[in-house]
Amino acid sequence: MADPDQHTRDLAAQRLAADDPTAWFEDLYAEASEGRAVVPWDRDAPSQLVEAWIGSRTSDGAGRSAVVVGCGYGRDAELIARHGYRTLGFDIAPTAIEAARQRHAGSPVDYQVGDLLALPEEWLGAFDLVVESMNVQALPAAVRAAAIAGVRSLVAPDGTLFVMAVARDDGEAVDGPPWPLDRAEIESFGDGLVVRSLERITDAVDPSISRWAAELVREAG
Ligand SMILES: C[S@@+](CC[C@H](N)C(=O)[O-])C[C@H]1O[C@@H](n2cnc3c(N)ncnc32)[C@H](O)[C@@H]1O
Repeated sequence: MADPDQHTRDLAAQRLAADDPTAWFEDLYAEASEGRAVVPWDRDAPSQLVEAWIGSRTSDGAGRSAVVVGCGYGRDAELIARHGYRTLGFDIAPTAIEAARQRHAGSPVDYQVGDLLALPEEWLGAFDLVVESMNVQALPAAVRAAAIAGVRSLVAPDGTLFVMAVARDDGEAVDGPPWPLDRAEIESFGDGLVVRSLERITDAVDPSISRWAAELVREAG
């Protein structure tokens, strides 16, 4: 089987050349479901920074709603649900959602197909917690501002947004996917929200990699 990262980039390149920046996700998940590809971000464990952040919260999610954007196979959605939130996980790829439902049979998470770039009206401003981890970085510059606006639009009054993304230096060229976020991009999640914390965290194993971890809130008017 081809190198998973290279194969992923090849699939993405074909769809990007056809000006369709999101179709390659379903291509990849569909191939993986037939054993013809490996999804590079397929891990049993939740994202470490999401786990550390939610674990540091003093209150649990009882009585609160959460949405996990681009949930893939559901690793972070399951984590958030374990913390007591009534959790929706959505992804643009139907095959990922079908696999998430099968992997986590009996889970309280509501897994749905959904497009961050064309969100259903009823999701807007509907969630006390929004988790965005490593999805915006998988989308090219042409749709990035719309994707960030989509993430922001999910946050309810008094709600919290947690964002995690691989970081790049200002002006640093990248050949994605992924396309890591620079400081201006991570800060743009804050339009209309209040930034509670924004850290750039160096990877413990590979110090050449660093990630943004940001917590933002929508103050009730
Ligand atoms: C790099 S993967 C990360 C998956 C997951 N967040 C994780 O950390 O395991 C990006 C995910 O975003 C999803 N995605 C991409 N564009 C999307 C969109 N417009 N709406 C919803 N999901 C999207 C992909 O299908 C994929 O599952």
